[in-house]
Amino acid sequence: MTMAIGTERYSGFARLLHWTIVALVVAQFAVAWSMPDIHRGTEPVGLVAWHLSIGTAILAIMVVRAVWRLVHREPPPPSSLSPLLRMVSRTTHVILYALLVALPLLGWANASSRGWPITLFGVIPLPPLMATGARLGHTLGDVHGTVAIVLLVVIGLHVLGAAYHLLVVRDRTVQRML
Ligand code: HEM
Ligand code: HEM
Repeated sequence: MTMAIGTERYSGFARLLHWTIVALVVAQFAVAWSMPDIHRGTEPVGLVAWHLSIGTAILAIMVVRAVWRLVHREPPPPSSLSPLLRMVSRTTHVILYALLVALPLLGWANASSRGWPITLFGVIPLPPLMATGARLGHTLGDVHGTVAIVLLVVIGLHVLGAAYHLLVVRDRTVQRML
């Protein structure tokens, strides 16, 4: 049986990855805002260690997700959207992918400049992205904080988009991801 365009669901794996990332990003902001201020000499322990671990997990899962997305056909945009909104929606998704790869890389670069060892899932050692003490690392740490705010704004837009589908257009876009 063929389904009307815009009513197909994302694959189970795509849905699993989407909601795993949502949970990790929520946890990551909660940790980032609760962890102690990071200064010269701060040790990467406790909540700071959690921030590094969750962040590298987000990076790894986003890479898997992007590759999956590039090689699998996912449902076409809902037919209820005008060409303009379709473009806004696609652009928002691409920006979300880009931010969720760039943001962890910036954090990793800053952590490297502090001489902190970075691992994936606590076991696989990752190489430093720059030398300990590199001045650029300090700047990239500031950029990391700013880009995190940009990510929050874009996530806000994305959630508004989902609410628009659910409450105004009343199509089945949100159900595609459930
Ligand atoms: C999507 C993933 C990430 C998000 C949403 C995120 C978010 C944040 C936020 C909001 C802050 C600012 C905390 C504050 O000052 O109030 C921060 C700081 C920091 N993050 Fe992340 N982060 C992510 C990934 C990472 C990764 C992967 C690493 C390292 C491997 C990392 C390392 C750091 C470090 C070292 C700081 C302190 C920067 C400084 O003050 O110089 N972050 N992060
Ligand atoms: C951390 C928060 C979130 C991030 C980073 C995020 C990221 C993304 C990305 C990158 C896509 C594009 C998937 C693709 O086509 O490859 C997407 C799709 C989608 N997201 Fe989210 N999302 C978040 C939160 C939410 C929330 C809270 C909802 C629901 C209320 C939601 C509902 C959806 C829906 C319905 C789609 C599919 C849209 C369509 O069918 O075209 N997302 N999300």
